[in-house]
Amino acid sequence: MDTMKAVVVYESLWGNTAAIARAIAESIGPEVRALSTAEATGTAIADADLIVAGAPVLGFSLPSEKMRENIRTNPGKAPAPPNLSHPSMRSWLDALPTGHGRSAAFETRIWWSPGGATSAIVRGLERAGYRTVAKRQRFIVTGAYGPLRDGELERARLWGAELAKAME
Ligand SMILES: Cc1cc2nc3c(=O)[nH]c(=O)nc-3n(C[C@H](O)[C@H](O)[C@H](O)COP(=O)(O)O)c2cc1C
Repeated sequence: MDTMKAVVVYESLWGNTAAIARAIAESIGPEVRALSTAEATGTAIADADLIVAGAPVLGFSLPSEKMRENIRTNPGKAPAPPNLSHPSMRSWLDALPTGHGRSAAFETRIWWSPGGATSAIVRGLERAGYRTVAKRQRFIVTGAYGPLRDGELERARLWGAELAKAME
């Protein structure tokens, strides 16, 4: 564990995925950081032994550029402005340099929705050479913009600990 480099990377417009990412990171280990797709570049991810990547499900899938643009121009009933300052997980995955570490994917979503984000995340991580180390995870929000369902942060912490164990 001492020498393992793990990074948790997220796309998050309203903060739910970022909160889950932080909970996962802190339970993998004290030096592990949760980074937005803007922060997770260059040396921050170089030679990572483990990349955990997460995003919200928007429009039944990993957010597309079109969906992000629609949200930017028409924020609807959002309780807070969307954070679109960091790139989409899609574009981050497209630019991810080849690596030799392991990976895991998660999404935040409402519980009953069809579709999901993790298949596309897993595909992108594996395309770059990061082989899956654990079953993908879903974390649930109770409304379109959140908040997270009670207990989801705790579940994220448990999953982070499981990931750390799987990497031993
Ligand atoms: C415009 C919009 C579309 C959404 N589409 C879906 C969807 O198709 N399936 C789903 O499960 N959740 C959907 N959600 C709920 C989000 O996935 C959920 O709020 C997520 O936690 C947001 O993550 P964030 O706070 O990190 O941006 C949608 C929310 C919004 C605002």
